Amino acid sequence: MSENSFRKIADESIQPQEFKFSKLNLDKAVNIKKNYPSNYPESSIMPLLMLAQAQNNGWVPKKAIEYIANFLKVPEIKVLEIATFYTMYNLSPIGNYHIEVCTTTPCMLRGSDEIVKACKKKIGINIGEVSEDKKFSLNRVECLGACVNAPVIKINENYFEDLDPHSFDKLIENLAKGKELKIGPQIKRKGSEPMKG
Ligand code: FES
Repeated sequence: MSENSFRKIADESIQPQEFKFSKLNLDKAVNIKKNYPSNYPESSIMPLLMLAQAQNNGWVPKKAIEYIANFLKVPEIKVLEIATFYTMYNLSPIGNYHIEVCTTTPCMLRGSDEIVKACKKKIGINIGEVSEDKKFSLNRVECLGACVNAPVIKINENYFEDLDPHSFDKLIENLAKGKELKIGPQIKRKGSEPMKG
């Protein structure tokens, strides 16, 4: 049976005491808000959470949730329920390389559980954990939208596809050595073309 993705709000001891958008991000936030009808302020919650996450080293603290609710004048629960539902919002600190393994049906049928195991073996972390050197973190996510190239993982902003435990190991070794990575399929095919070209 698969483990679930890890959705736990960071411990109080590491939550920042305050959060507010930087001047630059505040300007962006004001513009984001203008993109949506003024009678539906909730529409801006998702892009504003992404903005807050980017400003806070890749994770959303509780104070950012509170701040966005105040900024949009919506109940805090509206922001909290979105932040805690979607795995693209990290609720606790992540590593420099945040690995998200898709384990939805097409990826599962093509060996994603083996990728999760390879990750645990190679880096020594479980779902929801960060490595001691803070270099890597791991989570399990739902469909990343690249099913035709299953199994798929995402590391920070990039997709790595058509993986097996061996190519995954190699990927992590190259990442740890700071080598340039081959983004996309890890086999010979280009993009999503048929396996036989
Ligand atoms: S099921 Fe894994 S990318 Fe869609």
